[in-house]
Amino acid sequence: MRNFRKTLILIAAAMVLFSASAFAKPKTWVVGFSQEGSESEWRTADTISVQNAFLADPSFDLLYSDAQNKQENQIMAIRSFIARRVNCILFTALVETGYGPVLEEAKRAGIPVVMIDRDVAKEDRHLRLTIIGSDFMKEGEKAGIWLANYLKEKGMADKPINIVELQGTVGSAPAIERAKGFRIIMKDHPNWQITRSQSGDFTTAGGKAVMEAFLKEDKNIQVLFAHNDQMALGAEQAIKEAGLQPGKDIIVIGMDGVKGAFQAIMNGEQNCTVECNPLLGPQAVQAIRDLRDGKKIPPRIWTIEGLFDATNAAAAFPTRQY
Ligand code: AHR
Repeated sequence: MRNFRKTLILIAAAMVLFSASAFAKPKTWVVGFSQEGSESEWRTADTISVQNAFLADPSFDLLYSDAQNKQENQIMAIRSFIARRVNCILFTALVETGYGPVLEEAKRAGIPVVMIDRDVAKEDRHLRLTIIGSDFMKEGEKAGIWLANYLKEKGMADKPINIVELQGTVGSAPAIERAKGFRIIMKDHPNWQITRSQSGDFTTAGGKAVMEAFLKEDKNIQVLFAHNDQMALGAEQAIKEAGLQPGKDIIVIGMDGVKGAFQAIMNGEQNCTVECNPLLGPQAVQAIRDLRDGKKIPPRIWTIEGLFDATNAAAAFPTRQY
C-alpha cells in the first residue's frame, strides 16, 4: 500500500514537471508580413532576410504577402491578417499615407503592428509600435556631404554644379526623406542646383527611361543623384548610350550598396553608393520576440550603415551579402 502511494506521488510529480516544462516553451506566434513589392535587388534581399530569420525560429509562423507595388493589395493583405487573428503584423508601407483606417482596424482587434524599412505618415505613427530600419534623411545628407568632399578634391568646389535627381516611388518614405536630407546639405552650396527631378520608381527601367529623357533635353549635367542603385544602374546605361562616360562625364551617386553598384564603382562607372541595409530580418525577429515576452520595445530601431566609393568598394566587395 505504501509502495503504491509512493508510485502515485512520483507520477503526480512527473506530471507537474512535464506540464511546467510545456508551459516554459515559448508558444507559437503567427506573424503576418506585408511586403510592398519586389522592385529592386535591395527589396529581394530584404524579403529573403525576413523569411529566413523567421524560418530559423520554430516558435514563429510567418504568413507572407507581396503587394506587388499596389497599396490596395497591401491594405487587403493587412485586412486578411486581421481576419485570421495573427499575433502580430509586420509591414513595409509602399507610400506613407493612406493606411490610417486599416491600422485603426488592427488596433481595435488588439493586433500589434511593427513597421520595417518604410514608415507610415507622422499622423498614423501612433498606430504602430515601432519601426525597424534606416534613417533615410541621414542617407540623403550623407550623399550631399560625400559630393561636397568629392568636388573639393577635384577642384570643382566653387564651380556651378547642375544636379539631376532620380526620385524613388512618389510618396514613399525613402523618396521623401532622401530628397530632404540632400537639400539640407545643398543649403551650404549655393552653386549647386537641382535642374531636373523625376521619379524612376526605384527600378532600373525607370531610371534608364528618365535619364534618357533628361539627356535629350539637357547637355549640361554634372551630377546624377539617384535615390537607389537600381535607378543609378539604369541611368548609367542611358549615359553610355548617349556617348558619355558615367562616373567621369557625369558624377553618379546611388543608394543601397547592392553588388551591381559595387561593380559599377569598381569599373569607374559610378562614384559612390550610400548604404541602406536590407538585412532587417534578425532585428525584426528579435523585436517581435521581445514583444511576445512582454518586454518593452523602443519606438525606433536603427540599422548601422556605411558609404562606399572608389576608396573602399573593392576591399568590401567580397563580404557583401546582397
Ligand atoms: O525602402 C528602401 C528602398 O526601397 C531602397 O532604397 C530601394 O532600393 C527599395 O526599393
